[in-house]
Amino acid sequence: MKANIVLIGFMGSGKTTVGKELAKELQMDFIDTDADIEKEAGITIKEMFEKHGESFFRDLETSKAKETDTMENCVISTGGGIILRPENVTALRKNSFVVLLAADSSTIYDRVKGKNDRPLLNVPDPIAKIKELLTARKDKYESAAEFIVITDDKSVYEITNIIKAEYLKR
Ligand code: S3P
Repeated sequence: MKANIVLIGFMGSGKTTVGKELAKELQMDFIDTDADIEKEAGITIKEMFEKHGESFFRDLETSKAKETDTMENCVISTGGGIILRPENVTALRKNSFVVLLAADSSTIYDRVKGKNDRPLLNVPDPIAKIKELLTARKDKYESAAEFIVITDDKSVYEITNIIKAEYLKR
Protein backbone atom coordinates (compact mmCIF):
# COMPACT_ATOMS: atom_id res chain seq x y z
CA MET A 1 0.00 0.00 0.00
CA LYS A 2 1.29 3.49 -0.83
CA ALA A 3 2.10 5.59 2.27
CA ASN A 4 -0.10 8.58 1.40
CA ILE A 5 -3.14 9.61 -0.61
CA VAL A 6 -2.78 12.60 -2.95
CA LEU A 7 -5.85 14.38 -4.26
CA ILE A 8 -5.53 16.12 -7.61
CA GLY A 9 -8.16 17.94 -9.65
CA PHE A 10 -9.28 21.28 -10.99
CA MET A 11 -9.89 24.31 -8.76
CA GLY A 12 -13.16 23.81 -6.90
CA SER A 13 -13.20 20.04 -7.34
CA GLY A 14 -13.37 19.57 -3.56
CA LYS A 15 -9.80 18.44 -2.82
CA THR A 16 -9.49 20.30 0.48
CA THR A 17 -12.96 19.46 1.82
CA VAL A 18 -12.72 15.80 0.83
CA GLY A 19 -9.09 15.58 1.96
CA LYS A 20 -9.90 16.75 5.49
CA GLU A 21 -12.75 14.28 5.78
CA LEU A 22 -10.71 11.41 4.34
CA ALA A 23 -7.83 12.10 6.73
CA LYS A 24 -10.25 12.00 9.66
CA GLU A 25 -11.82 8.73 8.45
CA LEU A 26 -8.50 6.99 7.90
CA GLN A 27 -6.74 8.58 10.90
CA MET A 28 -4.12 10.10 8.66
CA ASP A 29 -2.62 13.61 8.77
CA PHE A 30 -4.01 16.25 6.44
CA ILE A 31 -1.70 18.40 4.33
CA ASP A 32 -2.66 21.11 1.84
CA THR A 33 0.25 21.98 -0.45
CA ASP A 34 -1.11 25.45 -1.29
CA ALA A 35 -1.64 26.32 2.39
CA ASP A 36 1.91 25.15 3.20
CA ILE A 37 3.35 27.18 0.32
CA GLU A 38 1.53 30.31 1.54
CA LYS A 39 2.62 29.74 5.13
CA GLU A 40 6.27 29.22 4.19
CA ALA A 41 6.39 32.17 1.76
CA GLY A 42 4.47 34.45 4.13
CA ILE A 43 2.25 35.74 1.30
CA THR A 44 -0.88 34.45 -0.43
CA ILE A 45 -0.85 32.69 -3.79
CA LYS A 46 -2.75 35.63 -5.24
CA GLU A 47 0.05 37.97 -4.08
CA MET A 48 2.70 35.58 -5.43
CA PHE A 49 1.15 35.67 -8.90
CA GLU A 50 0.86 39.46 -8.74
CA LYS A 51 4.32 40.25 -7.37
CA HIS A 52 6.53 37.46 -8.67
CA GLY A 53 4.60 35.82 -11.51
CA GLU A 54 3.16 32.34 -11.96
CA SER A 55 6.52 30.58 -12.42
CA PHE A 56 7.64 31.65 -8.92
CA PHE A 57 4.62 29.83 -7.49
CA ARG A 58 5.11 26.82 -9.81
CA ASP A 59 8.70 26.35 -8.58
CA LEU A 60 7.51 26.29 -4.95
CA GLU A 61 4.77 23.84 -5.98
CA THR A 62 7.38 21.53 -7.54
CA SER A 63 9.41 21.58 -4.29
CA LYS A 64 6.25 20.60 -2.38
CA ALA A 65 5.49 17.76 -4.80
CA LYS A 66 9.02 16.43 -4.27
CA GLU A 67 8.64 16.60 -0.48
CA THR A 68 5.75 14.13 -0.61
CA ASP A 69 8.06 11.21 -1.26
CA THR A 70 9.36 11.36 2.31
CA MET A 71 5.90 11.73 3.88
CA GLU A 72 3.94 8.94 5.50
CA ASN A 73 0.35 8.47 6.56
CA CYS A 74 -0.86 11.73 5.01
CA VAL A 75 -3.79 12.80 2.87
CA ILE A 76 -2.36 15.53 0.67
CA SER A 77 -4.55 18.01 -1.14
CA THR A 78 -2.78 19.77 -4.04
CA GLY A 79 -3.27 22.87 -6.18
CA GLY A 80 -5.16 22.36 -9.44
CA GLY A 81 -2.10 22.99 -11.58
CA ILE A 82 0.26 20.52 -9.93
CA ILE A 83 -0.15 18.12 -12.86
CA LEU A 84 1.27 20.67 -15.33
CA ARG A 85 4.87 19.58 -14.74
CA PRO A 86 5.59 15.90 -15.41
CA GLU A 87 8.30 15.92 -12.71
CA ASN A 88 5.61 16.78 -10.13
CA VAL A 89 3.49 13.81 -11.18
CA THR A 90 6.50 11.46 -11.01
CA ALA A 91 7.29 12.73 -7.50
CA LEU A 92 3.69 12.40 -6.29
CA ARG A 93 3.25 8.87 -7.59
CA LYS A 94 6.40 7.57 -5.91
CA ASN A 95 4.93 7.20 -2.48
CA SER A 96 1.27 8.23 -2.81
CA PHE A 97 -1.96 6.84 -4.23
CA VAL A 98 -2.99 9.61 -6.66
CA VAL A 99 -6.73 10.21 -6.92
CA LEU A 100 -8.42 12.59 -9.36
CA LEU A 101 -11.56 14.41 -8.23
CA ALA A 102 -13.27 15.17 -11.53
CA ALA A 103 -16.04 17.74 -11.98
CA ASP A 104 -17.59 19.45 -14.98
CA SER A 105 -17.34 23.16 -15.73
CA SER A 106 -20.75 24.11 -14.32
CA THR A 107 -20.13 22.30 -11.02
CA ILE A 108 -16.77 24.03 -10.80
CA TYR A 109 -18.19 27.44 -11.57
CA ASP A 110 -20.86 26.99 -8.87
CA ARG A 111 -18.17 26.12 -6.34
CA VAL A 112 -15.71 28.94 -7.15
CA LYS A 113 -17.99 31.86 -8.01
CA GLY A 114 -17.91 34.81 -5.64
CA LYS A 115 -14.35 34.03 -4.53
CA ASN A 116 -11.36 36.02 -5.76
CA ASP A 117 -8.45 34.07 -4.31
CA ARG A 118 -7.70 32.13 -7.52
CA PRO A 119 -5.64 34.38 -9.81
CA LEU A 120 -6.25 32.24 -12.91
CA LEU A 121 -10.01 32.77 -12.61
CA ASN A 122 -9.94 36.50 -11.88
CA VAL A 123 -10.86 37.27 -15.50
CA PRO A 124 -13.91 38.87 -17.15
CA ASP A 125 -15.37 35.52 -18.28
CA PRO A 126 -14.49 32.87 -15.68
CA ILE A 127 -16.78 30.20 -17.21
CA ALA A 128 -14.94 30.40 -20.53
CA LYS A 129 -11.61 30.28 -18.68
CA ILE A 130 -12.69 27.20 -16.69
CA LYS A 131 -13.69 25.43 -19.92
CA GLU A 132 -10.46 26.39 -21.65
CA LEU A 133 -8.25 25.20 -18.76
CA LEU A 134 -10.26 22.01 -18.27
CA THR A 135 -9.84 21.12 -21.94
CA ALA A 136 -6.15 21.94 -21.90
CA ARG A 137 -5.53 19.90 -18.73
CA LYS A 138 -7.92 16.94 -19.14
CA ASP A 139 -5.34 14.44 -20.44
CA LYS A 140 -2.79 15.48 -17.85
CA TYR A 141 -5.26 14.96 -14.98
CA GLU A 142 -6.36 11.59 -16.31
CA SER A 143 -2.91 10.22 -16.96
CA ALA A 144 -1.58 11.43 -13.58
CA ALA A 145 -4.38 9.65 -11.71
CA GLU A 146 -4.38 6.05 -10.50
CA PHE A 147 -8.07 6.34 -9.62
CA ILE A 148 -10.79 8.78 -10.72
CA VAL A 149 -13.95 9.84 -8.85
CA ILE A 150 -16.62 11.80 -10.74
CA THR A 151 -17.79 14.16 -8.02
CA ASP A 152 -20.61 16.17 -9.67
CA ASP A 153 -23.59 14.48 -8.02
CA LYS A 154 -21.87 13.04 -4.97
CA SER A 155 -21.68 14.27 -1.39
CA VAL A 156 -18.38 14.70 0.45
CA TYR A 157 -19.36 11.66 2.49
CA GLU A 158 -19.88 9.50 -0.63
CA ILE A 159 -16.65 10.65 -2.27
CA THR A 160 -14.71 10.01 0.93
CA ASN A 161 -16.09 6.49 1.25
CA ILE A 162 -15.32 5.61 -2.36
CA ILE A 163 -11.69 6.69 -1.99
CA LYS A 164 -11.30 5.05 1.41
CA ALA A 165 -12.59 1.70 0.11
CA GLU A 166 -10.31 1.84 -2.92
CA TYR A 167 -7.23 2.76 -0.88
CA LEU A 168 -7.81 -0.04 1.63
CA LYS A 169 -8.21 -2.58 -1.19
CA ARG A 170 -4.74 -1.88 -2.57
C1 S3P B 1 -4.24 26.66 -9.49
C2 S3P B 1 -5.05 26.17 -8.50
C3 S3P B 1 -5.09 26.73 -7.14
C4 S3P B 1 -3.73 27.35 -6.79
C5 S3P B 1 -3.34 28.35 -7.84
C6 S3P B 1 -3.25 27.74 -9.25
C7 S3P B 1 -4.32 26.06 -10.86
O1 S3P B 1 -5.39 25.70 -6.19
O2 S3P B 1 -2.75 26.36 -6.67
O3 S3P B 1 -4.27 29.39 -7.80
O4 S3P B 1 -3.41 26.28 -11.67
O5 S3P B 1 -5.29 25.31 -11.13
P1 S3P B 1 -6.88 25.06 -5.98
O6 S3P B 1 -7.00 23.95 -6.98
O7 S3P B 1 -6.82 24.55 -4.58
O8 S3P B 1 -7.85 26.15 -6.17
